[in-house]
Amino acid sequence: EIHNPNGKYRVISTKPMPGTRWINLLIEQDCRLEVCTQKKTILSVEDIIALIGNKCDGVIGQLTEDWGETLFSALSRAGGKAFSNMAVGYNNVDVNAASKYGVAVGNTPGVLTETTAELAASLSLAAARRIVEADEFMRAGLYDGWLPHLFVGNLLKGQTVGVIGAGRIGSAYARMMILIDLDIAAYGKFLKANGEEPVTWKRATSMDEVLLEADVISLHPILDKTTYHLVNKERLSKMKKEAILINCSRGPVIDEVALVEHLRANPMFRVGLDVFEDEPHMKPGLAEMKNAVIVPHIASASKWTREGMATLAALNVLGKIKGYPVWSNPNS
Ligand code: DGY
Repeated sequence: EIHNPNGKYRVISTKPMPGTRWINLLIEQDCRLEVCTQKKTILSVEDIIALIGNKCDGVIGQLTEDWGETLFSALSRAGGKAFSNMAVGYNNVDVNAASKYGVAVGNTPGVLTETTAELAASLSLAAARRIVEADEFMRAGLYDGWLPHLFVGNLLKGQTVGVIGAGRIGSAYARMMILIDLDIAAYGKFLKANGEEPVTWKRATSMDEVLLEADVISLHPILDKTTYHLVNKERLSKMKKEAILINCSRGPVIDEVALVEHLRANPMFRVGLDVFEDEPHMKPGLAEMKNAVIVPHIASASKWTREGMATLAALNVLGKIKGYPVWSNPNS
């Protein structure tokens, strides 16, 4: 799909994105915008090289794509100076390779903070109150009357929530959970002093403190070498037998094979997962676990947020091409 065919700067979006504001912004600033409409969900490096072609000023890409040496060198050979991920996370982007080839990288923080935190809170409540299991039971026509034991779950009020990775999203999640009258303990990278850090939370001095004390643990770190398999067999065994673990960050933060074993051995332990170690696949056994609520990486999926992410991604690319300030540039 081509917009403004005679535009001076050739910008590619590897996927159609929600809203029209991002399209209009690029058109108004003299870009020829090419939106890839291939049916394939995940584009390979070869697919993207073909899209880049011989002349390309900037690319808006997705978190499912592998933006490393090969793509940045191809983009640079085509005269490209800008790449933006339509995501806040950029573990799929090699920022050093981008710098080496003179390509500025953008991401889309801010607009997805509350939407993502709302999904983490929803998964916490859904897991605590067994909402998905109960929904499946109703649809299967199994409900034949009220019973004292039917889908008894956990009361959250008065319990302790642990937040691991206390940045923007972790803090927003904590602020939401404080409203349910929970104690909050947080550990990890904290917001800077001028951020909106909840005043009522306790800063834990070790991760163990959170693992041992919390009834609900929500993971919000970035994925890098230090957080890969942060939650492993040993750490799972430290959590309470009836704890609830939520992950809306990145799948590899949890060792998913160890998690499946743990869920199997501890039926009262529950998880709410938005992300998976080998997305889009799940490790064997996970889909069968009744004590898991699983959704397909939708934490940022509100209309307002997705349109905002698309707009920021366009602004990032335009910023570099036209010399305006780049909204968010992890390799600047
Ligand atoms: C992100 O932005 O990093 C999310 O995973 C998708 O919104």
